[in-house]
Amino acid sequence: MSSTAMTSSARALAHVARTTCTPIAPLATTAAQRRHQSSSSSLPTIGLIPGDGIGHEVIPAARRILETVLPGIPLVDLDAGFATFERTGTALPPSTVQVLRDQCQGALFGAVSSPIHKVAGYSSPIVQLRKELDLYANVRPVVNKKAFNASGEQVGCDLVIVRENTECLYVKQERLETDANGESIAFATRQISQRASRRITETALRLAQQRAAARTSGTSLLTVVHKSNVLSVTDGLFRETARAVFAAAGSPTAVKIEDQLVDSMVYRLFRAPDSVDVVVAPNLYGDILSDAAAALAGSLGLVPSANVGPSFVMGEPVHGSAPDIAGKGVANPVAAIRSAGMLLAHLGYADEATRIDQAVETVMARGIATPDVPGGKASTNDVTSAVVAALQA
Ligand code: NAI
Ligand code: MG
Repeated sequence: MSSTAMTSSARALAHVARTTCTPIAPLATTAAQRRHQSSSSSLPTIGLIPGDGIGHEVIPAARRILETVLPGIPLVDLDAGFATFERTGTALPPSTVQVLRDQCQGALFGAVSSPIHKVAGYSSPIVQLRKELDLYANVRPVVNKKAFNASGEQVGCDLVIVRENTECLYVKQERLETDANGESIAFATRQISQRASRRITETALRLAQQRAAARTSGTSLLTVVHKSNVLSVTDGLFRETARAVFAAAGSPTAVKIEDQLVDSMVYRLFRAPDSVDVVVAPNLYGDILSDAAAALAGSLGLVPSANVGPSFVMGEPVHGSAPDIAGKGVANPVAAIRSAGMLLAHLGYADEATRIDQAVETVMARGIATPDVPGGKASTNDVTSAVVAALQA
């Protein structure tokens, strides 16, 4: 398209994300994949869990995309979230977990609204689901050819954050005590295990090796993020375990390994986004880094993820339930759509994942985007319909 033929929104979008779901090949053959591959030619069954807020807008959008690329795909609607808690007294009904375990090969999760104050009996269902289904790796790619560095140069970024998903402060062991002055003092346990650190580094190393193999340079960079200058026991264990995994793999020459303290990692993300490749991090650091990295993509509404475990895969946009825009019809469906693409890629449907990726790229290049993306004026429905049309073209 010539620059004169571009719409104004397309021009505004020119510096925004081209985050794709295809760079992440299946990390391993999951049990779900094996189950699916060995069963028959039938399509995998996917559980859809919208949750709360814009989950009810972006998951129906992703449903349309799944139904377009794999007509007849069995989809099961499942409950979880704060509204479910208010209605039933539990945020993650046992029936939801049971159906996922017994009937589904994968799932797509929207987002839940977790209150910032303590609500008796409530616990975040996404944190619980990741543990229940042993989804120990959260893989979060951020790709934007138009990302800028701190010098204002358009250097682009193509990075993936591999977030440990089961422990760290998310073990949620907190207690409130009273100090000698009669004032409250709160404590939280931060759990870092050798097992979880090993599993997540093995996943990140596999990914780094895949990326190296796919490049003409034949190399990649694995950055181990921690804060072991302060937390020498917990983050020290994470760092040492990551190094041991690399050594046990024979210190592959295609992958360079390095350390980065978490605070300066954020600085580096924005100062030199093109210097970041594969990042492996404990749970909370990975969560914060991936929202920060989403800014490089242009909007949280563009960034997908896959929660991966030995026997299950769950796609999930990086964003939350966005109560500030919920119900307005303007939630960006792209993160959820790309998460559906990552889910399909992990289930062995690489062609369908690539088609989704390309359709999203086409729509964004035409300037059809929701308002969270600079210049975007379209509704959730407009964007979704445009992606469906691009898939059918
Ligand atoms: P958020 O990700 O929901 O929203 C942050 C900002 O990004 C808001 O301005 C929002 O409008 C915007 N945004 C997010 N997704 C968007 C999309 N698809 N399209 C357009 N704009 C989008 O984070 P926030 O506000 O910190 O949390 C809101 C709620 O979400 C909280 O209750 C939190 O607990 C929950 N949350 C849930 C997560 C999950 O279920 N996995 C993850 C993160 C937060
Ligand atoms: Mg987050």
